[in-house]
Amino acid sequence: MTNILVTGGAGYIGSHACKALAAAGYTPITFDNLVTGWQDAVKFGPFEQGDLLDRAALDQVFAAYQPEAVMHFAALSQVGESMVHPGKYWRNNVVGSLTLIEAAVAAGCNRFVFSSTCATYGDQDNVLLDENCPQDPINAYGASKRAIEDILANYAESDGLESVIFRYFNVAGADPDGDVGEFHQPETHLIPLMLDAIDGKRDALTIFGTDYDTPDGTCIRDYVHICDLVDAHVLGIKWLEEGKGNQIFNLGTGTGFSVREVIDASANVTNRVVPVAEGGRRPGDCTKLVSGSERASRDLGWQPSRSDMKTMIADAWRWHQSGHYDR
Ligand code: UFG
Repeated sequence: MTNILVTGGAGYIGSHACKALAAAGYTPITFDNLVTGWQDAVKFGPFEQGDLLDRAALDQVFAAYQPEAVMHFAALSQVGESMVHPGKYWRNNVVGSLTLIEAAVAAGCNRFVFSSTCATYGDQDNVLLDENCPQDPINAYGASKRAIEDILANYAESDGLESVIFRYFNVAGADPDGDVGEFHQPETHLIPLMLDAIDGKRDALTIFGTDYDTPDGTCIRDYVHICDLVDAHVLGIKWLEEGKGNQIFNLGTGTGFSVREVIDASANVTNRVVPVAEGGRRPGDCTKLVSGSERASRDLGWQPSRSDMKTMIADAWRWHQSGHYDR
């Protein structure tokens, strides 16, 4: 079996990726410091607890498992927090990734799948964002991910490192089998917070800003199902195995939903009332982020099958009600 080193494999996206890798015949080796991840989400391969800033720990893992490729998810990912504590983002995300890249290159592991973000594009209102759009992040989180993309490009030149970079739009939903799901502490994302409000676990969902230049005044995002997203990562590994070289792919659906539209869809799917309060804008939020995703479908053969809003909310709601969520 081929080993893949999965950093952040105990987190929301990483744990789903481990399941997809195992289903495709790979052995995912999770490397995670458990700062935001959960050990009980590591179900599909070995677990090594460690921090990206610990080069010796990384060297030991590369030596022990001889992975064919790295799938790099481990990162801090809260836009709002990144505006208040930018140093955490530059240290953990950028210096941590640099340490990982150096360890991979030193170990002769030159295939790298990287979890980047549409937040690297910044606020380009009313534009369908494709991979050729200029990157102009407006928050430290997006800036940290763009910096890592630049590091990967440099190592491609210097050391022949081959990477597939995925720029995610808004990831949502959960494994329909209920093996893994979304759980952040604290939770900051729209859909799980909304399900909490529906469930009475919080008083209301606060809409962050109702005065944006959008049809209903709330921010627009492009939501993609976690299972579709991780399927693309398995295709990314195969892309590198086939020697197709460095590439960047957006992962979104090309359809935008406003915050109010997501609220309405959730009320429909759950058949419950969503308690809502209106609040001010959250610093760092872009008005509209919608993907141009032709490249992923055309070149990678990626075909999302669960990324319609109803299925994403239904899967998230099932996970939410399963009790796993109340760790
Ligand atoms: N929102 C609310 N109320 C909340 C939480 C969110 O109105 O309580 C709004 C936000 O303002 C935003 C939308 O819902 O307009 C989605 O917010 P999320 O926090 O769910 O997601 P973000 O768009 O801020 O961030 C996510 C990922 C990032 C990624 C980014 C790209 O967490 O890693 O998408 O947009 F970079």
